[in-house]
Amino acid sequence: MPYKLLFVCLGNICRSPSAENIMNHLVHQGGLENQILCDSAGTSSYHIGSAPDRRMAKAAGDRGITLEGKARQFTAEDFEAFDLILAMDRDNYGQILSLDPQRQYQDKVKLMCDFCRHHSLREVPDPYYGGPEGFNQVIDLLLDACAGLLETIQQEQLELPS
Ligand code: 4NP
Repeated sequence: MPYKLLFVCLGNICRSPSAENIMNHLVHQGGLENQILCDSAGTSSYHIGSAPDRRMAKAAGDRGITLEGKARQFTAEDFEAFDLILAMDRDNYGQILSLDPQRQYQDKVKLMCDFCRHHSLREVPDPYYGGPEGFNQVIDLLLDACAGLLETIQQEQLELPS
């Protein structure tokens, strides 16, 4: 069974599709396509069905990452469907756990920046109302966090006997 990751932000058009596509890029580079699957979702319904934001796609494209996918909303079924759920900021984290009042799945939900090795920011800032530098910062943070996340998964999951 592949290990399943879900990246979550507010709109699912900027940060979480970037995280999903950056992680897919690293997974592909490592030849791990059969072992790690990635998806993304938003806590809001604002942009359901939309392609990634053009400004975000430009910043990702400048770093060699193509953003694919269409926005969908996070649902309570995602708790069972995924092994690890990565929130981009604390607000996303709180919104995700508000769908798990019994806190059954709390251990599956983590903040993305907890996997950063080089950056000290604790959240991936929402770039939506800012300028291009905010979108570039999202990519920088996510490249760091995705590399750290992959390393952690390889150490904790993939080396376990099946
Ligand atoms: P995301 O960015 O959560 O990284 O996809 C946003 C997208 C849309 C909005 C806010 C943040 N919005 O308010 O519509």
